[in-house]
Amino acid sequence: MRTSLFAICLSLAALPAAAEGEFNTEDGFAAFEELFGVTEGKRRNHTKGFCVEGVLTPVDDAVKAYSSSPLFTGTSTVIARVSHKGGKANPADDKYGLLGMAMEITTADDDLHVIAMNTEHFFPVATSEAFIKLLRAKAAGGDAVKAFAAAHPALKAYKAYHGALDKTLRPYEGTTYNSVNAFYLVNGAGEKTPMRFSFRPSGAEGIVVETHPDFFLENMQANIAGGGVSWDMVITLANPGDAIADPSVQWTGDHTEIVAARFTATAAMSEADGRCDAINFDPTVLSDGFEPSEDPMLEVRSLIYAHGVGKRLSEQD
Ligand code: HEM
Repeated sequence: MRTSLFAICLSLAALPAAAEGEFNTEDGFAAFEELFGVTEGKRRNHTKGFCVEGVLTPVDDAVKAYSSSPLFTGTSTVIARVSHKGGKANPADDKYGLLGMAMEITTADDDLHVIAMNTEHFFPVATSEAFIKLLRAKAAGGDAVKAFAAAHPALKAYKAYHGALDKTLRPYEGTTYNSVNAFYLVNGAGEKTPMRFSFRPSGAEGIVVETHPDFFLENMQANIAGGGVSWDMVITLANPGDAIADPSVQWTGDHTEIVAARFTATAAMSEADGRCDAINFDPTVLSDGFEPSEDPMLEVRSLIYAHGVGKRLSEQD
C-alpha cells in the first residue's frame, strides 16, 4: 500500500523515546553527531551523496514462485541516492571507502518499495544497541575501541573479512551493494522465504573517466551518457540454519541466487537538482510480496531514519 513517507516521518519524529521500546532513537542519533559532528540540513550518516534516477525491470521469472511483488511483474520508477558511508561532510571520492545506495521504488500499480544498502557484506555488530556503543567507542578513541572489540567478537570477524577485500577505487556504478539485513519474500499462497539481496553492476565495472576529490557525479553522468549504468538485483535465498535476525553473521557456502530485476540509471544529478534529498529511505517500507524479517535492527533503522529526516528538513527551513 502506498503511504505518505513524509507523514510517517513527522509523526515518528514527534514520538517520545519511551514509546519506542528499548532503543532510544534520539540518543542513538546523537551518537552519530558525537562521532562525525553536525552538518546542518544534511543527513548525519551517509552525508555526502547525490541522486540517481532510473527504472527497475523484472529479469528472472523464477522469483515469482517466492514473491507476488509488483517489482517482478512490471516496470517501476526509481529515485535513488548514492552516498559515502559516514557523517563527514565531504569525504574524498578518489580514496577507497565504504559506500551506500538507497532506492525509493514506485511500482506500476503505485506501490512503494524502499531499499537502503551498504557495500559491507555483513554488519560489524549484531544489534543496534551495540552499533551505537561502537560509535561512542570510536568517538572516545584508542582504548575504548579495544575494550569494545574485546566484548564484541563479531567486530573481529568483520574486520578480518572486510580488511582482506580488494580496495581498488571504483565509482558508485562499479560497486556492489548489500542489504545486510534479511527480509522475507511472500508468495500468493502466503508462504514466506527468508532472503538477503545485493545490487551488482550488470555491465562494465564502471569506467573511471578522471579522478579528483569530487569526481563521482560527473563520472556517473559520463557513464550514463555512454549508455551503461545498471545493477542486477540478486536475491540470495537463505539455507536452513542461516542467521535471519543477526546481520553480523555471514551466510557462507552454496546458496540459490535469483537475478530478479535490473536497475538501469537514466540520469544522475546533485541533491540540489534532484528529488532524493527529502526522501526517508526507511527499509521497512516494502511492496506487497515482501515482509521485514524478525531482525530488530530494521525497526530501529526505521525509527532513526524518520528522526533524521524530520530534523534535517526542519534545519533547511
Ligand atoms: C543499527 C544500525 C543502523 C543505524 C543506527 C543506522 C543509522 C543511520 C542514520 C542515522 C542515517 C542517516 C539518516 C538521516 O539522517 O536521514 C543512515 C543512513 C543510511 N543508512 Fe543506516 N544505520 C544502520 C544500519 C544500516 C545498514 C545495515 C545499512 C545497509 C546495509 C544502512 C544503510 C544506510 C544508507 C544507504 C543510508 C543513506 C540513505 C540515504 O542515502 O539517504 N544502515 N543510517
